[in-house]
Amino acid sequence: ERFFALVPAAGSGSRAGQPIPKQYVELAGRSLIAHTLAALAAVPELAQTLVVLAPEDARFAAAVPGFAGWSARCGGATRAASVRAGLQALRERGAGEQDWVLVHDAARCLLRPEWVQGLIEACRADAVGGLLAQPVADTLKRADAQGRVQHTQDRRELWAAQTPQMFRLGLLAHALDAAGEAVTDEASAIEQLGLAPRLVRAPLDNFKLTLPEDFALAELILRSRQA
Ligand code: CTP
Ligand code: MG
Repeated sequence: ERFFALVPAAGSGSRAGQPIPKQYVELAGRSLIAHTLAALAAVPELAQTLVVLAPEDARFAAAVPGFAGWSARCGGATRAASVRAGLQALRERGAGEQDWVLVHDAARCLLRPEWVQGLIEACRADAVGGLLAQPVADTLKRADAQGRVQHTQDRRELWAAQTPQMFRLGLLAHALDAAGEAVTDEASAIEQLGLAPRLVRAPLDNFKLTLPEDFALAELILRSRQA
């Protein structure tokens, strides 16, 4: 039984308002994806990391000089398609159906190695697998079509899903094949099989860079860690 990281990095970053795909934006001295991959490279449990790139990607080699992992230009039109293709690329490189795969968004570049290790420790004996997630802190409102509050949602049972999300390769591939394109994370696909992934509490600064305003905050955090 081994552990592999799979990093989907084939998106265009349409919500980020950047002139290039967001994973290649420079923050605190290096590209966002270089930060992500450095954190994964510092996790001794991981046998190898595979990055899924867009077929037309021409930026990765310069953005992550000296990358010692695997990359494959097999990204698809959706995140789910990119992850499915990445699982196949892992198989072609010798990963087995019982090996664990930790899927982690390239765009969550604040990742720390100890968070990954915490997830692995919490889930390696689990029959299903699990994910980093954060209990929701704000009071949640359901909106109507006019943008007015319909009602207040009970937040006590609600968690915000993050990555990494770790499942065995064979189970995850089967789940994603059955789920189609609409799922936005691995756990949703596993849930659709009637299985219950384990929630592992994550720190707040494992957020995904999605909107223009996320970049300044991420840069501030990265620089404060360097100080
Ligand atoms: N991703 C991918 N293949 C896709 C879409 C997304 O590999 N077809 C990756 C992104 O590169 C990112 C991660 O999945 O690292 C999370 O997706 P998201 O934050 O939605 O990134 P984008 O799809 O690039 O951004 P947007 O949705 O704003 O266009
Ligand atoms: Mg997207």
